[in-house]
Amino acid sequence: MQSRSAKSGFVAARMGPTVSFPKGFLWGAATSAYQIEGAWDEDGKGESIWDRFCHTPGRIARGDTGDVACDHYHRWHQDVGLMKELGLKAYRFSISWPRVLPEGRGPVNPAGLDFYSMLVDALLEAAIEPFVTLYHWDLPQALQDRGGWPARPTAEAFVEYADLVSRRLGDRVKHWITLNEPLVSAIVGHLQGRHAPGHSDLHEALAAAHHLLLAHGWAVPLMRRNTMQPQVGIALNLSGQTPASPSAADRAAAWRQDGIANRWFLDPISARGYPADIVQHYGNAMDFVQVGDLEAIATPLDFLGVNYYSRAIVRSTELAEADNAPRKVFPNPDQTEMGWEVYPEGLYDLLGRLHFDYRFPALYVTENGAAYPDAIGPDGRVDDPLRVAYLKEHLKAAARAIAAGVPLRGYFAWSLMDNFEWAHGYTKRFGLVYVEYPTQRRLLKSSAHWYGRVIAANGVVD
Ligand code: FCB
Repeated sequence: MQSRSAKSGFVAARMGPTVSFPKGFLWGAATSAYQIEGAWDEDGKGESIWDRFCHTPGRIARGDTGDVACDHYHRWHQDVGLMKELGLKAYRFSISWPRVLPEGRGPVNPAGLDFYSMLVDALLEAAIEPFVTLYHWDLPQALQDRGGWPARPTAEAFVEYADLVSRRLGDRVKHWITLNEPLVSAIVGHLQGRHAPGHSDLHEALAAAHHLLLAHGWAVPLMRRNTMQPQVGIALNLSGQTPASPSAADRAAAWRQDGIANRWFLDPISARGYPADIVQHYGNAMDFVQVGDLEAIATPLDFLGVNYYSRAIVRSTELAEADNAPRKVFPNPDQTEMGWEVYPEGLYDLLGRLHFDYRFPALYVTENGAAYPDAIGPDGRVDDPLRVAYLKEHLKAAARAIAAGVPLRGYFAWSLMDNFEWAHGYTKRFGLVYVEYPTQRRLLKSSAHWYGRVIAANGVVD
């Protein structure tokens, strides 16, 4: 008797979710065009700033490029098959702007539009909801040659591009993300120089950030008009900035970092304008802001996309260490292969802050995941328990945020498959699916099998 009930209890614990999610929660995975498509100059595609950047010696680890990447442009059908196997409810991907408009504006490349239209049809047929990102960093090189994001006409070009794509796909695609991580496009691309176009100029970076936001704000109403049941948002990379001690200096430094990384984007899209403390901190002419821009940028959104990987612990550099209070906060020693602290609690904190301080109608985690040095084992399988642990803890944090009242409607693991990780090339693997690059063979990692069970159970399982 006792053993029977113990046994069924055991079965229930193994099969059922330990933490459940609301009915209809959208379980997804994400990718982006340049990171997976390859076919960089096929079927009429134009050159992007990432093509140019990767073809410039010394920019990318090992000289890797996205020329072939995961060859998704040719293997998309098989890749939709993988998504079905996982039971994905949603798939976030991006459109390559130069694939549909090779010169950035002007003549359309019909083959490019057809490719995405085909992909959308295949997803819908598999009952997978497409979440389409318009801009995931691959600006047409032709627009870069005319000044790129620091130049205002690039925002006008984006509106034409958004119009074209939403007219073609808006009968079937409901969920749109205008931009992915404008912070990274602007700052990493134009100030830190580690991403395309590889520049290092603060004024350029701030102008780029402004024109990105303007492009976003201008595009939203028009995408709504072109879409049957529009849900339009933006994806920001956001992370908590924790002071290393309670000293005034550390708290001020953390708040400043929060302004640079988070509020610079969250505030203007929430009709609060640019944060005054950071405008002052930069001390740079904001001469690119014109009358009406901030109103356009503040166009109400249907949702905010949140890309979360880790937090930062901020120690003031203005005080000598001996003059500062002792450090109180230390990172979790568990890090991913990117050197990012594993800090699931930060997702809970962030979602709560976004909801209670900013009140977006809905939130999605549009990226969350981890790179680890995966390899095919002697048994031919890829076992990645660290990724499972990472995802599991972050999902539990997300569930707690929902229980606290946060309108989190879905979660996208980054990434569906291993891919081109920007300046790191192919050295970092974020996928649920392993890609053996020389053969382009795909292999479900144990995290993919686990995630499939999560989706089936609509909750976290062991
Ligand atoms: C994000 C990017 C995404 C991927 C992950 C690891 O910043 O949006 O393309 O590279 O980081």
